[in-house]
Amino acid sequence: MDTTAGNAPILEVRGLTKRFGGLTAVKDLSLDLRAGEIFGLIGPNGSGKSTAMKTIMGIERPTAGEVVFQGENVAGLPAHKIARKGFGMVFQHSRPLNRQTVLENIMVALLPDSLFMLFPDRALTARAEWIANRVGLGAVMERRPPTLPFADLRRLELAKAIARDPKVVLVDEPFAGLTLAEVGVFSELIRSFRDEGRAVMLVDHNVKSVAALVDRVLAMYLGEEIVTGRADEVMKNETVRRVYLGGAIETSARPETSFKDKVPLLQVENVSVHYGKAQALENVSIHVHEGEFVSVVGLNGAGKTTLFNTISGFLPYSGEIIRGGEKLRGTSPARIARSGIVQCPESRELFGEMSVRENLDLGGQHLTDEIREQQLAWLFELFPILKQRQSQMAQTLSGGEQQMLAIGRALMMQPKILILDEPTLGLAPVILELLSKALEKLRQTTPITVLLGEQNVTFALPHADRVYVLEHARIVWEGDPGRFAAEAGEGYL
Ligand SMILES: Nc1ncnc2c1ncn2[C@@H]1O[C@H](COP(=O)(O)OP(=O)(O)OP(=O)(O)O)[C@@H](O)[C@H]1O
Ligand SMILES: [Mg+2]
Repeated sequence: MDTTAGNAPILEVRGLTKRFGGLTAVKDLSLDLRAGEIFGLIGPNGSGKSTAMKTIMGIERPTAGEVVFQGENVAGLPAHKIARKGFGMVFQHSRPLNRQTVLENIMVALLPDSLFMLFPDRALTARAEWIANRVGLGAVMERRPPTLPFADLRRLELAKAIARDPKVVLVDEPFAGLTLAEVGVFSELIRSFRDEGRAVMLVDHNVKSVAALVDRVLAMYLGEEIVTGRADEVMKNETVRRVYLGGAIETSARPETSFKDKVPLLQVENVSVHYGKAQALENVSIHVHEGEFVSVVGLNGAGKTTLFNTISGFLPYSGEIIRGGEKLRGTSPARIARSGIVQCPESRELFGEMSVRENLDLGGQHLTDEIREQQLAWLFELFPILKQRQSQMAQTLSGGEQQMLAIGRALMMQPKILILDEPTLGLAPVILELLSKALEKLRQTTPITVLLGEQNVTFALPHADRVYVLEHARIVWEGDPGRFAAEAGEGYL
């Protein structure tokens, strides 16, 4: 329901354009934002959503156009001046001050113009405490960011964005990486920002949650508006369906008996891992056949990344990991990778200041020139955007483009066993479909074996021949994806 009709807009964006060299990331974009509304911005990866927000906020200088806030054109002002006028932004990637506490991080956001406070006054501390409680950080105010779980780091970004009581809040991908329950909590928080009379602009690829939150939504593609309107109307739009939502993912599992290797290619047997006193894996046993696609489903913190890092040789463990009948214990991570077990980590680990092409060449450095060229050509067919952006610096790629590059680099190593840790994080539905097709193509045209870690079960299930559920360091379920919903789906579906 649109409860804001009749209100004059608090923010009017007119003809906003941002060019990076020859690339027009945002093109002639116009929109209005009213107090007390949530305005969604959707579009495929690289369509210019983050750039639009950063340009409105003054973090990127607009090439052309106006950003009129309460009657005044603020376009071209530096970010701190725009912030002071009443803007706050939640960034796509968290960047806290790691040596300060949560409370101090919020205090710095309260006073962006001063150096770090020597004499924090009581009112300031009280206000920071109030904000911490407001976003659910009350219990961890004295902790430092590196010790916090992922969701709390995102809460801290929300806290910083609303610290100075802004009238306009720009929120970039708040839901990426959160569990279903956490998405619910964050949705409530964002709704409460609106109910306090703020204008909220929201970007996220979680289409369901965005549709449930927004009063209006603008869909964009290649920097330009496709259509603006109510969420249900916009989602029905032909172009939006084609360039953003894509089609349904459909594949079918192969029964375990169809894999003919007598000894599974990879066996993890009774593996336990500890970080200090905390147990991260407890007697975990899984196996993967040659050519099989296996998904490990689990929420944040369940132990997926620990399991993959253990297989890759980075962590000490008890139990055995056996590849092709041979124990891996004592083999260095580099040798394990060279032998064909390649992990594409959740944190991507790209070389930010190197180009797309250089990152890919690093993945393929062991190949002869001829084979590397073939592999690149094959990869560019899988991810055409990487071909277009070969000379762009990795750190300036959009979130989703970086994810594609990370997967691309892993594929350049020609893995026998490819481990994908949360590959869908931050990917637009249409890119999920592309990745899904790429995986299917791998499944049908190569002997590759895939181990996929996901909390997104709508992606993990269709791509699995078999599924394991990892909860609190333990495997609690194993079976074929068709039985997942009935037997293990609670909390995931
Ligand atoms: N500093 C830069 N230099 C060159 N190109 C850039 C720069 N910043 C962004 N781009 C490009 O501009 C385009 C828009 O990027 P943007 O980050 O706004 O996309 P997005 O819609 O937020 O995508 P995602 O959903 O993947 O986060 C992308 O193709 C990106 O590679
Ligand atoms: Mg973005």
